[in-house]
Amino acid sequence: MPLAPLTTFELGGPARFFCQATTSENVGWALRWAGDQNLPVFVLGGGSNVVVGDGGFAGLVLQLVVRGTEFRSQGDHVVLEAQAGEPWDDVVAAAVARDLAGIECLSGIPGTAGATPIQNVGAYGQEVADTLRSLRVLDRRTLEARELPAADCGFAYRNSIFKREPGQAIVLSVCFALRPGARPVLAYRELANALADRARPSLSEVREAVLDLRRKKSMVYDASDPNRRSAGSFFTNPIVSADVAAAVSTQAVGERLVQAPEEVPQFPLPDGHVKLAAGWLVERAGVKRGLRMGAVGVSSRHALALVHHGGGCTADLIRLAVHVRDTVAARFGITLQPEPVFLGVAWPPLPSE
Ligand code: EPU
Repeated sequence: MPLAPLTTFELGGPARFFCQATTSENVGWALRWAGDQNLPVFVLGGGSNVVVGDGGFAGLVLQLVVRGTEFRSQGDHVVLEAQAGEPWDDVVAAAVARDLAGIECLSGIPGTAGATPIQNVGAYGQEVADTLRSLRVLDRRTLEARELPAADCGFAYRNSIFKREPGQAIVLSVCFALRPGARPVLAYRELANALADRARPSLSEVREAVLDLRRKKSMVYDASDPNRRSAGSFFTNPIVSADVAAAVSTQAVGERLVQAPEEVPQFPLPDGHVKLAAGWLVERAGVKRGLRMGAVGVSSRHALALVHHGGGCTADLIRLAVHVRDTVAARFGITLQPEPVFLGVAWPPLPSE
């Protein structure tokens, strides 16, 4: 089964076995079958955050297409339960249409609801860990379904136990605690600026503003967009000590990349660390938006998104990604880490590792 058409990069070789699970029971059966054959299993959602190797995957790729969304009132909250295979943006749209606050800033993100906890999807001041209450998961060892409180998911920036220990559990459904009629969170400056002329923006106005911002960065899927074959941000934003962040600002001023240190985008975190903007580092290291390396390149709208232009292969993409990583490391001494999950191919270590 070719996997390339199931990924937003449209790259990679075939899966030896492929199964679409339309119910939670199917997931259990598929896992039992793969266990009997001694085959590795990879769970695929919308394919929007995965890099598949050119040789494909010599195991079972299991795609969860279990659908359904339910709303239940619980005290002052409404609990939204979405089955893993629900397209994420339909879930957000349904919550916003009911005036339920909590996930409106996560509009326009590709992929499925069940994939959102894996990398703790976040954007424009919200992340799923903020509102996720619990998940229903299938334990891959016992093949039993159980409820997992969000507090047990080890959420961090773009990380969770599901990403750190992929062999443990499969997400079957996600439950969010949403606030009826609550005011939207406008914590991200770019979003707050976009809505500055509204005294009290509605959740649907926030959703529209987020979709607008994302479209300008080619981060909303559009079949006519030359930047469409991508996985959004290819690298995570590096989290560094305050000293390292200050050194980057000093270097940027010294090299006249900026006039004042405050112009370097930095987001201080509660624990004293600082999140830097990987896209800014990539551009200032000299990798231009729109750069082409054969069939792959850097998005013309955002330096953090790598793009396949068609007719390429995963080796091309990885060569480009390593070039970007090594260029940033050489210039700023900061090693960017990839955000997508790799299947059937490894992310190459640094030359010194
Ligand atoms: N920037 C540049 N050049 C670029 C791109 C960005 O200088 O080519 C600068 C911007 O000017 C800004 C800063 O970098 O000052 C941050 O850029 P942006 O607001 O576009 O956000 P980001 O940090 O690049 C993150 C998430 C996105 C999410 C946005 C908005 C990560 C890895 N990425 O991107 O999530 O949509 O914030 O909240 O955390 C994704 O994970 O795939 C993703 C798209």
